[in-house]
Order: sequence, then structure tokens, then C-alpha cells
Amino acid sequence: MPLAETDRVRQPRLSRFDPINALESMGPPAKAIAERAWVALDPVSGLRDAFSIALRPASFRKRGILTARLETIRFVRTFPRTARSFVLPSLLREWTVSQADARGLFLEFGVGDGESTNHIARTMQRSHPGTALHAFDSFRGLPEKWLPWADAGAFAREALPTVEPNAHLVVGLFQDTLANFLASHPGVVSFAHIDCDLYSSAHYVLHSLLANSRLAPGSLLLFDELMNYPGWITDGEYRALRELLPGGPLGYEIIGAAPVSEQVAIRLTAVAPRGPQR
Ligand SMILES: C[S@@+](CC[C@H](N)C(=O)[O-])C[C@H]1O[C@@H](n2cnc3c(N)ncnc32)[C@H](O)[C@@H]1O
Repeated sequence: MPLAETDRVRQPRLSRFDPINALESMGPPAKAIAERAWVALDPVSGLRDAFSIALRPASFRKRGILTARLETIRFVRTFPRTARSFVLPSLLREWTVSQADARGLFLEFGVGDGESTNHIARTMQRSHPGTALHAFDSFRGLPEKWLPWADAGAFAREALPTVEPNAHLVVGLFQDTLANFLASHPGVVSFAHIDCDLYSSAHYVLHSLLANSRLAPGSLLLFDELMNYPGWITDGEYRALRELLPGGPLGYEIIGAAPVSEQVAIRLTAVAPRGPQR
């Protein structure tokens, strides 16, 4: 769930009009127009992403927002020119799913109310008919405090969400369910949506997938909260990614992002073995 929505739920008095959330609630034609305008703007300014990150409405009463934005602008400017930039997180999500190889596993870590699960599952019905999404969550909310406005238990639900027929819920802590799941589901990951916010959860997931050789060159990972919130560099999903990839047998390239929000998509790559080159 994009952070701005979390803010709205937990801090209603600090909320204000947010153009990204407003566009997300509109229909496909309005989204397509927004996306076209976004793409057209880049050659004009060259600084489109930096301006948009800096100017997105936010509660600047939250400590660290300004620093987070400057760090994000610096990070986004390191992205390769080939990386696609989307104004709307939902369009980045659809595009990333459509780029994935239909033959591997499609996974999601962090289901919450099922919004992203159903969106991914519906996208798969169109782009990869017959494939299934396995979506993991305890539904007890975050096992630890994440941010000052997201305590342990945030996103907890009383009942399981209703999901599309091609989405299968795996209920329980990742630490209790993922090993069994992998034992009964062979194959490499084609696409994984990492939306569990916490460093500890993202680290567990990535470490397990790597240790079981389920990530390979071509696997796509979409992070929902990689950047652009206070502490993103030293904690959360980015810290897990930075610690676990590269450095091992795999590297990654950034293939897409929603720079005004927090989402980044990467493709895993092979890394040449170290040692003397002939
Ligand atoms: C931000 S919410 C997911 C939102 C959802 N993807 C959406 O867009 O609607 C994060 C979820 O991760 C789950 N979560 C975080 N760490 C977990 C863990 N170690 N095991 C199981 N679930 C976890 C929480 O229960 C919570 O529902």
C-alpha cells in the first residue's frame, strides 16, 4: 500500500489533496492520459522526477520527509536511462507483471486488504492466462514497529480478504510458511511483489529465495516501499536488497520505478565470477 494511503488512514488530520492518489482512483483512460503527459514532460524538463518528488504534497511535520526526498532524488538520478518511469504505481505494477516469464512462480509478500493481490491477479489473467499468484501474509499486521506512524500490528485484519480465483493465499508468518511452500512448489521466481515494509520480513524472504536457488537471472522483483520515506536507506526493503544483492552470484538492474512514490522494479542479472580473468 503506498505510504500516502497509510498516512491517510492513520493520520487523517494531516492528510491533504494528493494528485497521485486522486489519479489512482480514476479510470484507465484518465490514467493513460496522465502517463502520456508524464512521458512527454521528461524531454522538456529533464528534471521531471526531481521536481515531482520534491513537490508532492506531504506532511512536512513528519520528521525526515525532506531528507528522504533529497536522498530519493539522488537515488533516482542513478537509475539507468533504460529504466521506465511511471507516474502511477499501479501502472508500474501492471507493466512489471506483463514483463515476467509466464513459466515461473508469481509470488506476493504482504497482502493486507488484497488490493495489490487482486490487481496483480487480474493483470496476470490478461497477460499470462492460466497462471497463479501465491500471496503470503499473516493478516496479523506488521510483526514489528516500522515507522513512527506504523506500529507493530499495523494492517492487521479480522478476516481474510476476498481474492481473485487465480490468487492463492498462504496464511501465516513468512518465517512459518515459506519453507514448506518452496518444498512443494519447484521452479524459479518469475515475479515477486515485496510489500512487507519491514527490513526483517524482506530480508527473510529474499534470503530464503536466494538460499533455495529460486532467484535467477530474469527474475523480476517489485518493491512497494523501496525508497522515499524517512529511513528508507538504512532500514526496510532497500536495506534487505542492498545487503543480499549483489555480492553473491546474482546482481540486479533497475528496470522501472514510480519515482514520485516508493516503488522500484528490478531484474536479476548474472554476475561474472570473481577471480583472474583470461
Ligand atoms: C503494507 S501491507 C500490504 C499491503 C498490500 N500489498 C496492498 O497493497 O494492499 C504489509 C503486510 O505485510 C504483512 N507482513 C509483514 N511482515 C510479515 C511477515 N514476516 N509474515 C507475514 N506477513 C507479514 C502484514 O501482515 C501486512 O498485511
